[in-house]
Amino acid sequence: MTEMRTPLPPTPTLETRRLVLRPLREDDVPAIQRIFPQWEVVRHLNAQVPWPYPDDGAATNMADCLAQRARGEKMFWAITLRGSDELRGRIDLWPGDETTRDNRGFWLDPRLHGQGLMFEAAEAVTRYAFEVLDWPELWLTNAQANQGSRRIKEKQGAQLIDVTPNVYVSGPGLRETWRLTREAWRARPGDRA
Ligand SMILES: CC(C)(COP(=O)(O)OP(=O)(O)OC[C@H]1O[C@@H](n2cnc3c(N)ncnc32)[C@H](O)[C@@H]1OP(=O)(O)O)[C@@H](O)C(=O)NCCC(=O)NCCS
Repeated sequence: MTEMRTPLPPTPTLETRRLVLRPLREDDVPAIQRIFPQWEVVRHLNAQVPWPYPDDGAATNMADCLAQRARGEKMFWAITLRGSDELRGRIDLWPGDETTRDNRGFWLDPRLHGQGLMFEAAEAVTRYAFEVLDWPELWLTNAQANQGSRRIKEKQGAQLIDVTPNVYVSGPGLRETWRLTREAWRARPGDRA
């Protein structure tokens, strides 16, 4: 049984070679409203994401996120490039177990895709979950068609558990569910894969 306690501690700033992951802030709303409502960002996300995206979509979501964080239920990081405080994407982490089977979400500005940046962000958040929060495992999901997201899980050492139907913004599809144990992550293929 996974041992994951709430309330979570305050969200820390995490640094990587090219990124600073800092706690999400209210004043990130304009950047999110500008970047998030793009087909490359939303198409593989769950159909709960409103689409077409309303003009107040980012503000509404921000209010939800800040309330969840205040209750100690979830952590939300703004992904920024070193040297600029501007939000370019987001990565979220929350407790759960083999019944809820989902602990993480992320998205990145399409202009920055394909440079290994989300792998870098995922590694920092995973290290925090395993080595600071002391969680024993993470459950992770993606649309089967989402090659970038599935590759990040493979590189992190996750094991595919099953494939089930789900509905995405782009329509019906298949959801891959993965389990990443701390031990498998420590032995991960990473960039050597
Ligand atoms: C999924 C997403 C976060 C990946 O971010 P990224 O920074 O481009 O990913 P990386 O550059 O770290 O790539 C990680 C691996 O996936 C591969 N990859 C990335 N995009 C890919 C694509 N479209 N097709 C195939 N492989 C892809 C990379 O080549 C890399 O593997 P490699 O090291 O073996 O070459 C990004 O595409 C995104 O924001 N998508 C929209 C939101 C989303 O789908 N979020 C995930 C929901 S589960």
